[in-house]
Amino acid sequence: MAVAFWLLFSALLLSADATDSKDNPADELVAVVNANRTAHKSHSLVDSPGLGCIALQYIKAYQGKCDEVGNGKKPADTEFAETFAPNCGVQASTLGPITGRLLGCQSKYVPPSEAFSDVLIQNSRSLEILYSKNHTQVGAGVSGSDGGAPYFWCVMFAGGAPNKTFALEGGVAKITRPGCFSGTDDDCSDAGRSGNRPRWVEAVGVFVAVVCALGL
Ligand SMILES: *[C@@H]1O[C@H](CO)[C@@H](O)[C@H](O)[C@H]1NC(C)=O
Ligand SMILES: *[C@@H]1O[C@H](CO)[C@@H](O)[C@H](O)[C@H]1NC(C)=O
Ligand SMILES: *[C@@H]1O[C@H](CO)[C@@H](O)[C@H](O)[C@H]1NC(C)=O
Repeated sequence: MAVAFWLLFSALLLSADATDSKDNPADELVAVVNANRTAHKSHSLVDSPGLGCIALQYIKAYQGKCDEVGNGKKPADTEFAETFAPNCGVQASTLGPITGRLLGCQSKYVPPSEAFSDVLIQNSRSLEILYSKNHTQVGAGVSGSDGGAPYFWCVMFAGGAPNKTFALEGGVAKITRPGCFSGTDDDCSDAGRSGNRPRWVEAVGVFVAVVCALGL
């Protein structure tokens, strides 16, 4: 009886979760990262909206080209100060040191917990980055190119004092669409779960996943 009740209760919880309109997949991804780190006895990281916005800008620099993630191409480091920070309203003089990035891209939208375990964490290198003691803060970005596939996921880790780095002009991050980033109270389901993905993705069942883990 107790078991049956528990199963019913869990099912209700799950269905409630699935219809929660306040979801922001980037915030969920940060929660998964921190839960996994603390379970591994690494400290929890500060959720920085400035860094989250930069993670989304980082994704946008790929212009939807999934294969470039697999090729290990990445935006030039100068882009952080010249493009990403101004687009986010982050004061460029307060950019902290980037201590790690996890980046993945695939043609199918999956929930954040699956994106974490199946897309972003692929090998011992990505685990080393996840559990690194060098990070003090984290931000995540999620984007489907114009609301459709491919779906990019980026977790950006940084060092420095969270209250002195990635400072926002006027204290608020510039919300940019399409895509979602963590650390704001932004209600965002723009990254693709809303069913506006192109039909061919489902019809053909195309599935590619590419991933890249960078220590710096
Ligand atoms: C943390 O994530 C890794 C990679 O997905 C997984 O193997 C591990 O079981 C996770 N740990 C916990 C406590 O969830
Ligand atoms: C942490 O920082 C040190 C010093 O910069 C570096 O040697 C090390 O590789 C970093 N650790 C990780 C996991 O990136
Ligand atoms: C920033 O945080 C540190 C450590 O938590 C604290 O000592 C310091 O006073 C804070 N600085 C500001 C400007 O809030």
